[in-house]
Amino acid sequence: MASEQKQAFLERTKKVWNPGKTQDWIDTGVDIVIDRREGYCFWDMDGHRLINMHLNGGVYNLGHRNPEVIQAVTDAMQHFDIGNHHFPSLMRTELAEKLLATAPENMQYAIFASGGGEAIDIALKSARHATGKKKIVSLQNCYHGHTGLSVKTGAPRFNEIFLTEPEADQFVQVPFNDLEAMEEALSGKDVACVIIESIPATYGFPMPAPGYLQAVKALCEKYQALYVADEVQTGLMRTGQMWCCTGYGVEPDLLVTGKGLSGGIYPIAAVLVTEQAGQWLTEDGWAHMSTFGGSEIGCAAAIKTLEVAQRPETLENIQLISEYFDQALADLQTLYPDFFVGVRKNGLVMGLEFDYPRGAELVMQELYKQGVWAIYSALDPRVLQFKAGLLMSLELSKEVMDILEYSIDAVVKSLPKT
Ligand SMILES: Cc1ncc(COP(=O)(O)O)c(C=O)c1O
Repeated sequence: MASEQKQAFLERTKKVWNPGKTQDWIDTGVDIVIDRREGYCFWDMDGHRLINMHLNGGVYNLGHRNPEVIQAVTDAMQHFDIGNHHFPSLMRTELAEKLLATAPENMQYAIFASGGGEAIDIALKSARHATGKKKIVSLQNCYHGHTGLSVKTGAPRFNEIFLTEPEADQFVQVPFNDLEAMEEALSGKDVACVIIESIPATYGFPMPAPGYLQAVKALCEKYQALYVADEVQTGLMRTGQMWCCTGYGVEPDLLVTGKGLSGGIYPIAAVLVTEQAGQWLTEDGWAHMSTFGGSEIGCAAAIKTLEVAQRPETLENIQLISEYFDQALADLQTLYPDFFVGVRKNGLVMGLEFDYPRGAELVMQELYKQGVWAIYSALDPRVLQFKAGLLMSLELSKEVMDILEYSIDAVVKSLPKT
């Protein structure tokens, strides 16, 4: 039960900031107001400590207020500011070089944005320009952001309310892991690009079938469409590889990164493009403009983030805790085989599947009470998104698993007997 102080704050908030969302969380029993934060924990304004297993989709990959990122940004602020997006910039060029060094060799340019949605829009526009075609193919139940084009590639849940439904002749959706449907969508040779999140987060991290992503890439080549990899959630070492798509053997034509790229400190997102996909950059370099896109302070945050994410110690830690979760989750499943029916996992990208309608929402509520914050998947509320950070300690991972076991037990005991 929230303190009187928190209740008063939530009422105050509802008067000036998103009353619908605020009330939804109150109704769901997850009335978080984040106050202090450090490492992989935050404390809400009532002093309740929560271990963060949501990470805001990967924004806090390196933990909250990572001291090295804070230092890099503090240093940068002695010299830089947002900068001027019209001119070449010391920081942008350095970040572009560093990002391209992490990517497949076919990538030529980095284009910067202020957030993931804008970066996705840039990718889709670039693909349209490069191919001279308009149609965009995405997956059913996907989410790529809320901006102009990105929202049209997503599920109706995200675009109906503002009447931004996709035009049927320009935006086509096909089921995940269905190559026949993908080939049918591409076969008219009128598709500019296919956009895919290798492991779709908002749909509960279903895993790509073996060979699926490579086959989609081959279909793109066959029908002269470009392949856009949305790495906003799955990139930056979350799977133990810098980019999730390359781990599945795909070299995309365009690769989008955001969220964790900012180190959780200063927003920045980017699109990496091949020479072909980035044609407009030489034809008309003014064709996309963004005042805050590639801000120099954001570049400083991202340069440090890339360095930390790629250290051998970071990879060792990812492997250590990934193996721990493999075993611990498998053990826990054996205790609740009728309820906890699946683990979807690649590195630290994890989705826990419960055989009960909105089962993950029930687990989320209990976890919240017990001190772990993890969110159910918006488009499949049977699946809990369970995202451990790259630098999370084994000790904290064990604490998370103890709380998960307690919470699943409590939920199972609370279910009506059938
Ligand atoms: C896979 C994916 N792509 C794109 C976006 C959009 O990013 P942003 O919220 O920074 O606009 C998100 C945000 O959740 C996402 O999860």
